[in-house]
Amino acid sequence: MGQRSRTLESLDVNPEFWRDKRVFLTGHTGFKGSWLSLWLQEMGAQVTGFALAPDGAASLFTRADAGRNMHSIIGDVRDYAALQTALYNARPEIVIHMAAQALVRSSYADPVSTYAINVMGTVHLLEAVRHTQSVRAIVNVTTDKCYENREWVWGYRESEAMGGHDPYSSSKACSELVSASFRKSFFAPGHNVALATARAGNVIGGGDYAVDRLIPDVVAAFAADAPARIRNPHAVRPWQHVMEPLCGYLMLGQALFENGTTYADAWNFGPNADDTQPVEWIVRHMAQLWGPQARWEIDAGEHPHEAHMLRLDTSKANRQLRWTPQMDLRSALDWVTQWYRDANRGSAARELTLNQIRAYQARLQTTSRQ
Ligand SMILES: NC(=O)c1ccc[n+]([C@@H]2O[C@H](COP(=O)([O-])OP(=O)(O)OC[C@H]3O[C@@H](n4cnc5c(N)ncnc54)[C@H](O)[C@@H]3O)[C@@H](O)[C@H]2O)c1
Repeated sequence: MGQRSRTLESLDVNPEFWRDKRVFLTGHTGFKGSWLSLWLQEMGAQVTGFALAPDGAASLFTRADAGRNMHSIIGDVRDYAALQTALYNARPEIVIHMAAQALVRSSYADPVSTYAINVMGTVHLLEAVRHTQSVRAIVNVTTDKCYENREWVWGYRESEAMGGHDPYSSSKACSELVSASFRKSFFAPGHNVALATARAGNVIGGGDYAVDRLIPDVVAAFAADAPARIRNPHAVRPWQHVMEPLCGYLMLGQALFENGTTYADAWNFGPNADDTQPVEWIVRHMAQLWGPQARWEIDAGEHPHEAHMLRLDTSKANRQLRWTPQMDLRSALDWVTQWYRDANRGSAARELTLNQIRAYQARLQTTSRQ
């Protein structure tokens, strides 16, 4: 893994802190949710998940048996009563909200569901927290796409305007606004609940099998000896290994829990500037790592609008939370390619994922001692 030097004393994801913590995680059956469920279980947290059923046998949640040591509830965030009951019964101390309709193209196909899940789902969760005495900290996971995209070269700062062209991005901007309103109206300084939002870049990692996402599409094509078809080769995105934002969410959750509303704000988690790269760069590197049979071509068909340029300014998380990326993009692609190659050769998804979680945690501990 590529190393980054740290100028400030760094915090850590402290397994001691997470041991026996009661955590309520929405979206635990999804890609990021499966990784985070396994990481939290690894640290001994008492995790209750709330999400729709995993997306079939191919999903990482099923393949890695990610629900084994947690309480997994299958439910819909649009159903306020079900969500409130689940939250109340779990008596969580920390809530991490990741449940979402998370795909841009699906949001064009079904904007109504996208807004219902991403906006009213957030309202339901925050309202349920108001009626659950145990909660001390909430991390609402939105996205880098929540900013009004100006197609400029600079990274967006947390203070910049919310926006969003497509329904997904717009719904996540709405989720940010809902969070800001609940923070001001109900969880103001002095209140025992501290609420933050987290805006992360495009994540890559083993076990993502979603349709219409770059890495899953490319890996499926490479594995089938077919050319990967690339839609937006010049679109620039802040790519990160999935463990990086998850680390940010956990550090933020701990900071909120221990310091109350001091950290109750919006936070960007993204790669260092060099690792914000166009789609074409990613595909070229993946193809090199995969081997000579890997091919790709540009899909010149009509595609719905997607932003061309998107960068995040992460100075605030670097300085105030002391979060920094632990690996560069080449290392992240190495990890991703390794995961899928080993999985295709028959290695168990659970072990592959847990091994990378342990390697990442070891890296974090080493860095925090430097
Ligand atoms: N993957 C990325 O690159 C990326 C980047 C930035 C932010 N995010 C955000 O991170 C979060 C997780 O993303 P992901 O990539 O794991 O997505 P995913 O699609 O793999 O998982 C989404 C999760 O939300 C759950 N969900 C969807 N609709 C629901 C509903 N009505 N009720 C309850 N649960 C519901 C699903 O069951 C699943 O568990 C999302 O909030 C997403 O917007 C993702």
